Amino acid sequence: MISKSTIDNVFETARVEEVIGDFVQLKKSGSNLKGLSPFTDERTPSFMVSPVKQIWKDFSSGKGGNVVAFLMEHEHFTYPEAIKYLAKKYGIEIEETQQSDEQKEQANEKESMYLVSEYANKFFQKSMHETDEGKAIGLSYFKERGFSPETIKKFDLGYSPDDWEALTRSALEEGYKLEYLEKTGLTIVKEDKKFDRFKGRVMFPIHSMSGRILGFGGRILSNTKKAAKYLNSPESDIYHKSKVLYGIYYAKQAIAREDNCYLVEGYTDVIQFHQSGIENTVSSSGTALTPEQIRLINRLTKNITVLFDGDAAGTRASLRGIDLILEQGMNVKVCPFPEGEDPDSFARANSEDDLREFLEENSYDFITYKASLLMDEAKNDPVKKAGLIRDMVNSISKIPDNIQQEVYLQECSRIMDISEDVLYATLAQIQSKDEKQTGKPRKRNMEVVKEESAPRPKVDHLYVLERNIIKILILYGNKEEKFEDLLLKQNEETGELVLEPETQEAKVFEKIYLDLQEDEIAFSNEDFRHLYNILINKLNSQEEFVVGNIINELEASQAKEITDILMQEEQYELHSWDRHDIPVKEKEQTIKQFVSQTILSLRRHLIDCKLNELLENIRVAQTEDERTDIKNEVVGFNKLRTLLAERLGRVM
Ligand code: CTP
Ligand code: MN
Repeated sequence: MISKSTIDNVFETARVEEVIGDFVQLKKSGSNLKGLSPFTDERTPSFMVSPVKQIWKDFSSGKGGNVVAFLMEHEHFTYPEAIKYLAKKYGIEIEETQQSDEQKEQANEKESMYLVSEYANKFFQKSMHETDEGKAIGLSYFKERGFSPETIKKFDLGYSPDDWEALTRSALEEGYKLEYLEKTGLTIVKEDKKFDRFKGRVMFPIHSMSGRILGFGGRILSNTKKAAKYLNSPESDIYHKSKVLYGIYYAKQAIAREDNCYLVEGYTDVIQFHQSGIENTVSSSGTALTPEQIRLINRLTKNITVLFDGDAAGTRASLRGIDLILEQGMNVKVCPFPEGEDPDSFARANSEDDLREFLEENSYDFITYKASLLMDEAKNDPVKKAGLIRDMVNSISKIPDNIQQEVYLQECSRIMDISEDVLYATLAQIQSKDEKQTGKPRKRNMEVVKEESAPRPKVDHLYVLERNIIKILILYGNKEEKFEDLLLKQNEETGELVLEPETQEAKVFEKIYLDLQEDEIAFSNEDFRHLYNILINKLNSQEEFVVGNIINELEASQAKEITDILMQEEQYELHSWDRHDIPVKEKEQTIKQFVSQTILSLRRHLIDCKLNELLENIRVAQTEDERTDIKNEVVGFNKLRTLLAERLGRVM
């Protein structure tokens, strides 16, 4: 783990405008900098960086936060990766906190599984690079395959000794528990015997998106034995085959940068492609592509190119999984390799330029490719052709974008020589059948768009009010204001209760704190509750109040709320703004009005909730006495509500 002091040091040193400036061209705009959003395709800038507040906000995607949040969003770094990147940029030495034996024990089960996998990874590499057996068998195998020493190092390739207990013995000696060796599948335990799953194989560790070791693939070396050529780690708490893509850790940046992902069959294809300089390559390793794997790619790019071997059987099989990719609204291309070649062998036999050229020239749009392929197959067989048309339209029906569907139908009509009307009719038929089967209408364009835009919290009344209180604390917490309050007094002559104005001077945060406390109001939103406590404590201890410093200590969701509040002003600087239907400026009102109004509205809202609850209680009350009691309570709350409304009317 990176030490707290390193993290603090990084935050003190890093400048958000410098870090972002490496990725986005920024221009001065008042006290801020603005540029084109790196997250969307836009022509007028709506991306703002505030050097003063040390935060950024992208008004077109809704993303925003501090310097680390930017690196996590833009470079797809994990938190530690972002910190390490910044430390490197600013020449800060990284201090790691050492794990003691006790900490090792305390780490939860999954963590223990990660640790033992990490250990195995180191062990396999050591066995390959530092033992005679490893060098003679493992290392020389990889060299023969054409992997360079750099490639072997980069992918953490290793060798598992030809000995039934080599890894198990060594790990146990180092204090790792058999339980986790077994749970990760590294050791197979049978009665009182234990043996290494990967004995005598060369090892391909499988990394998560953020670089942790999840499992392994092991390739056998001798081809005399009947054992499987590739053996993989079993499913476990840390390794879910369906959610992992081999190579994603090394490919993620290139995928986002190139805005395309090459999908190949296995370990060796991925590695050979990387070595050839095509780094935006991943594989689903032996299994059929799953929706979760596609989603991993979908986070990085909308474009995917599926590469497959040149034999006919391979082609039909590869095309089958592709409808799944279409369903997620991605653009799919396919690239068939020449007869007898696979991406691994082809990349090895050709220069980088030739490989790139080949990929460029042989990648076809999936729908058009499939249509041509099917046409060839069914040229002179009308019955077969009818079936294939259905197959084709079925693929098109998976595309969520209606406009794209239409384009493809027209294209198919041309290639397959079928009237568009027939294709449309077939599409309608398939869709209505789908709807019947799933019981819900198919996802349409709009819904997909909605899903992708930043998740806005539902605008509910309480949320807005609580957010306003946080906003007031951040923007005006320390301001002195004269608050006019209406106090309930008894008229001395008539004995009637009346509201009388009284003016008190107080700091804004004190007023808020005392009012909320008086009413015993607790925030319903967890993020706001947490923020509220932090802000009140800071304001109360009169610490110098630098919002940027607070943000760095918060959870991502909390930091995002604060960023949004702080960057609201900047929003108005963007000239394109009113076109987006976003209300410009709050009603002109004084701070004290805003404070009083927010608190009173919050109280009234809570009273309304209470009243609803009481009315429900009356409905289910068992006895008449009970009912009468509740009714009295309702009368009391109603009076309070009227008073509040009166006061609200006065401040507004
Ligand atoms: N693969 C697998 N399980 C298998 C066979 C293959 O997971 N039983 C995957 C591997 O990831 C491998 C890829 O498919 O990298 C390509 O398969 P193949 O060419 O058979 O593997 P190679 O190791 O390249 O074998 P060979 O040297 O015989 O080509
Ligand atoms: Mn091969």
